[in-house]
Amino acid sequence: MSGFVIAIDGPAGAGKGTLARRLADYYRLNLLDTGLTYRAVAHMLILKGWPLDDEAHALEAARLVDLGQLDRAVLSAHDVGEAASKVAVIPAVRRALVEKQRTFAATAPGAVLDGRDIGTVVCPDADVKLYLTASADVRARRRLNEIEEKGGYAEFSEILADIQRRDERDMGRADSPLRPAEDAHLLDTSEMDIEAAFLAAKAIVDDAM
Ligand code: C5P
Repeated sequence: MSGFVIAIDGPAGAGKGTLARRLADYYRLNLLDTGLTYRAVAHMLILKGWPLDDEAHALEAARLVDLGQLDRAVLSAHDVGEAASKVAVIPAVRRALVEKQRTFAATAPGAVLDGRDIGTVVCPDADVKLYLTASADVRARRRLNEIEEKGGYAEFSEILADIQRRDERDMGRADSPLRPAEDAHLLDTSEMDIEAAFLAAKAIVDDAM
């Protein structure tokens, strides 16, 4: 690895994306939301009408993923996230995407990557590993607020059930399950706002520099 690498892992809705962006801006590092790479594979399968467990086509889609062309506006849709967690259990898909993610991480001046397996699999030698958590209730409440701020409507109980289902799938899969790396710093953001989470993370990163 040629630059400084910060790995951020944790379950859906823990605040990884916002924290990753703040840290990348502050330390002037490249930024990769690796969830978008799994979403891109799922999105391609959905567009083509291919089943999400079609391994050959999923691998073909994974090979075509271009890290420079990940369109958050298209990929952030809820059903794409749900589908992404299904294609993410396919080992060949993971291998193809992890290779691209590692190349990204090794590019100067370094990077902040967020996902589920960054500290454990993608960048086991990362300079700093953060594992973000928050209670499922808090994560569901944040999701609901985001939806409502955009003028949307959703049931809290449905969001909570979704989050719990996704947690189970991500933590329970055989290949690269979601778990903190042994040397990860745990950050519970249940009682923190964005600024507090950033300051806590900054203190850890500054210490490692
Ligand atoms: O973080 P995001 O919700 O965009 O991720 C979508 C799905 O992609 C996750 O639920 C997870 O199953 C998968 N994922 C993964 N490994 C990563 C990033 C995301 O398995 N590094």
